[in-house]
Amino acid sequence: FSKCWRYARAGLHEPNQWPEADPAYPEVAFVGRSNVGKSSLLNQICNFGTIAAVSSKPGRTKHAAWYRNRKVHLDIIDMPGYGHADRAKVFGPEALAFVKARTSLKAVYILIDARHGFKWTDHEWLAELGNEGPRKQVILTKCDMVAPNKLIQIASLARSDLEQFKRVDHKLFLCSSVWKSGMHDIRADIVRRTNL
Ligand code: GTP
Ligand code: MG
Repeated sequence: FSKCWRYARAGLHEPNQWPEADPAYPEVAFVGRSNVGKSSLLNQICNFGTIAAVSSKPGRTKHAAWYRNRKVHLDIIDMPGYGHADRAKVFGPEALAFVKARTSLKAVYILIDARHGFKWTDHEWLAELGNEGPRKQVILTKCDMVAPNKLIQIASLARSDLEQFKRVDHKLFLCSSVWKSGMHDIRADIVRRTNL
């Protein structure tokens, strides 16, 4: 998995500004509530220091950004977060519309903060998506901040919450951008899903 470069940014509410879907570059997207660590994970996955801006203040990522891996031939999209104050209203429906409409999108990774688990906004988002869009996969982030026994509890709760949703994989990925753990499995999954 070689390095990725950002090659496009676009507001999700302007479909005419989305980069044109390219069949040679299947896409996966990182979505989730604000501040769960989407941009941080992307920086780790893309193997190139800090290319996506990270912030302790929720709502940092305001545009969707496309990161291209030329060697493996895929794009990873860092999405603005949903479920935070006013921004939820702005980004939630647009991210949904994007996921539903984007034909080149092969997988959506839903990131969940391991400290807080599966929240109502995640539930709403997934319910709203229903059967549409590609397969979904859940990643628990910030696992370094949770004691192992608590992590087991949160993971099994999230797993049972997810059972009600269609097209969501039951297998959870666990990761930490601080420990740089879990990256190998996530990269392998991204490659597998974009090579179908
Ligand atoms: P928005 O763009 O606002 O939706 O946020 P985001 O989901 O992109 O989160 P971002 O990557 O900006 O990270 C938010 C905060 O969480 C930052 O302060 C990060 O340093 C911190 N953070 C992200 N991942 C981890 C992790 O694995 N462990 C720890 N301890 N902190 C993390
Ligand atoms: Mg971000």
